[in-house]
Amino acid sequence: MTKAAAEPLSDLWDDAHAADLDEPGLLLYRSNLLGSDLRITNFGGGNTSAKITMTDPLTQKPITVLWVKGSGGDLGSMKRDGFSTLYLDKLESLKQLYRGIAHEDEMVALFNHCTFNLNPRATSIDTALHGFVPHTHVDHLHADAVIAIAACSNAEELTGKVFGGTIGFLPWQRPGFDLGLKLGAMAAQHPEYVGVVLGGHGLFTWGPTSKAVYQTTLRIIQQAADWLAGHEKQPAFGGPRCNAAAPEARRASAAALMPLIRGKISRDERKVGHFTDAPEVLEFVNSRMLDRLAPLGTSCPDHFLRTKIRPLVLPYDHQSDSVETLANSLDGLLEAYRDDYSAYYQRCKRPNSPAMRDPNAVIYLVPGIGMFSFAKDKATARIASEFYVNAINVMRGASGVSTYVGLPEQEAFDIEYWLLEEAKLQRMPKAKSLAGKIAYVTGGAGGIGGAAALRLLGEGACVVLADIDQEALEARIRAIVQKFGRDSVVGIALDVTDEASVVASFHESILAYGGIDVVVSNAGIASASPVEDTSLALWQKNMDVLATGYFLVAREAFRLMQRQQCGGAIVFVASKNGLAASAGASAYCAAKASEIHLARCLALEGAPHGIRVNTVNPDAVLRGSKIWAGEWRQQRAASNKVSEDELEEVYRQRSMLKLSVLPEDIAEGIYFFASDLSAKSTGNILNVDAGNAQAFTR
Ligand SMILES: NC(=O)c1ccc[n+]([C@@H]2O[C@H](COP(=O)([O-])OP(=O)(O)OC[C@H]3O[C@@H](n4cnc5c(N)ncnc54)[C@H](O)[C@@H]3O)[C@@H](O)[C@H]2O)c1
Ligand SMILES: [Zn+2]
Repeated sequence: MTKAAAEPLSDLWDDAHAADLDEPGLLLYRSNLLGSDLRITNFGGGNTSAKITMTDPLTQKPITVLWVKGSGGDLGSMKRDGFSTLYLDKLESLKQLYRGIAHEDEMVALFNHCTFNLNPRATSIDTALHGFVPHTHVDHLHADAVIAIAACSNAEELTGKVFGGTIGFLPWQRPGFDLGLKLGAMAAQHPEYVGVVLGGHGLFTWGPTSKAVYQTTLRIIQQAADWLAGHEKQPAFGGPRCNAAAPEARRASAAALMPLIRGKISRDERKVGHFTDAPEVLEFVNSRMLDRLAPLGTSCPDHFLRTKIRPLVLPYDHQSDSVETLANSLDGLLEAYRDDYSAYYQRCKRPNSPAMRDPNAVIYLVPGIGMFSFAKDKATARIASEFYVNAINVMRGASGVSTYVGLPEQEAFDIEYWLLEEAKLQRMPKAKSLAGKIAYVTGGAGGIGGAAALRLLGEGACVVLADIDQEALEARIRAIVQKFGRDSVVGIALDVTDEASVVASFHESILAYGGIDVVVSNAGIASASPVEDTSLALWQKNMDVLATGYFLVAREAFRLMQRQQCGGAIVFVASKNGLAASAGASAYCAAKASEIHLARCLALEGAPHGIRVNTVNPDAVLRGSKIWAGEWRQQRAASNKVSEDELEEVYRQRSMLKLSVLPEDIAEGIYFFASDLSAKSTGNILNVDAGNAQAFTR
């Protein structure tokens, strides 16, 4: 049984809610409902429209306006401003200007002349498909169950069988003005149709009201899913060729492979990874049909724009091979994929095609283990993975009832290298300085660690925050997710003094993002006590958290970065007290001095591998710091003979520049050493202490 059949799509329409909405509001409501279920449409895929009577701002007369989802955006999360609005009569008049299919792309620029009410939202390629259908409300969705039928070798015949003459069929054609004309004509000629299946692509449905078309859409998709479930050959994909490795072994293998792949495909542009071993993925990668289906490529244009024309299958038998055997053959496999891709580019390119893009695979399938995806940022990698799951569902549905066919290669190429797609890419903002980089920050729940995380996130990095304080960590992660979304940050429980915990935190980071480029070793404590009163336990604690903790984290960073083979930046957050002796805190000072010297030793060892190790020394960062919230603050206030509230002023006055040092100031130094701004510095120390002559380096 397919998933759609096992759990029927639910009709979420709420009449009470809808009663208060105007027509654009109803269109938005329906769009958000449709987009909330990935079985109805994939992320960012599909669009909806309504032809609404409105008042023309110039003539004050009623006219019909086409509201249609604009270019980009996602049905599930879009807002009212996600729709473009066009005078329907002007759009209709474009038919007279149309010069034929060879010139259809020029129509897209003309859509702008139809804009109603100066709406700046760019129109999508699918505008004509909505505008020319002579029905008020139109949905276009990429539902897996419908694409499965649309991607069968006998798609037209099946469409007739499944929908019993209520749904028409148009063979594959790249969406555009011409397909819009054909769709409009078919809808006009067949009043009995409630929609059309587009071969190799998806579904169009229509109706007189938002509620009616919503319910038709759901009903048609459910009908497709039920039919597939009732007719599919068992077992799916011809049954298993191998079993999945145990969950822990899958994760361990993924953690071993991802940094290797990442390093090898990140030479020109750093990539972020995503791993999944979801049941439907394992069923496919372990199946007998994997080798036959994977090379056919995906069908729906949305699928392969996100996942590339085809995935790379990494041949692996977890029962007989060690993961290192596969690791050793990666170079050849990746190279062969790149060669194939550039041969495809050469075969299909047109005189005006854009230059070849990155020839590396996006999707990597490993029997027994699961699927990796790599892209320029985490959201893109995760979404590519979700799209390939959509593609797996499609292949499963199609091959269960017929023969699955991918898009013809030239058609795929013409979409991938479509000049209109290229124009979209060119409009993207310039990448930020840490785009594609992954930073691991210890003590991330604390003041300085938190400020560093924000600085690195702001520059486009993904950040792993690792800390022993779970509660503070969760609160910090929640706040960051609100600001930067759920893809760019994860929190991991870590005790830097515990070897196994440090190793595990690196594994988890790899599974989250595929590797690590920046390590900020920052987790710390502070203590003060005259030497004669310093217990061995206190001494040991400072050594454990600071000296040993920094060693354990740096050692794991070295192991990973050497495996990943694309350099790295390690930043130690030590202390002014590691350079300047200070009475009454010998355990802390000695441990901090040990960090500083460890960084210099590691700079020597790291240089041949492009791993830079530098130190930032803060001093007296009172705000936001948990160290300064407790006993340390009382002791410092007492030894300065002031109240705790006056302490910040004491430190300000003590500094050469008479300035307070803030967590953001330390974060700036960390960012400097983490980024390529300091590409030519290693073994260095940057004091961020508002000036302290005792800490001058010499
Ligand atoms: N704040 C300052 O004035 C100052 C001055 C010099 C150096 N530093 C150094 O800066 C770093 C960050 O300090 P902060 O001011 O942000 O303090 P903070 O207490 O706000 O943050 C430190 C974080 O480290 C975490 N941590 C402690 N022990 C840990 C362990 N065993 N494993 C994992 N995490 C652990 C804590 O839970 C905390 O979230 C420390 O290394 C500190 O020594 C701070
Ligand atoms: Zn589409």
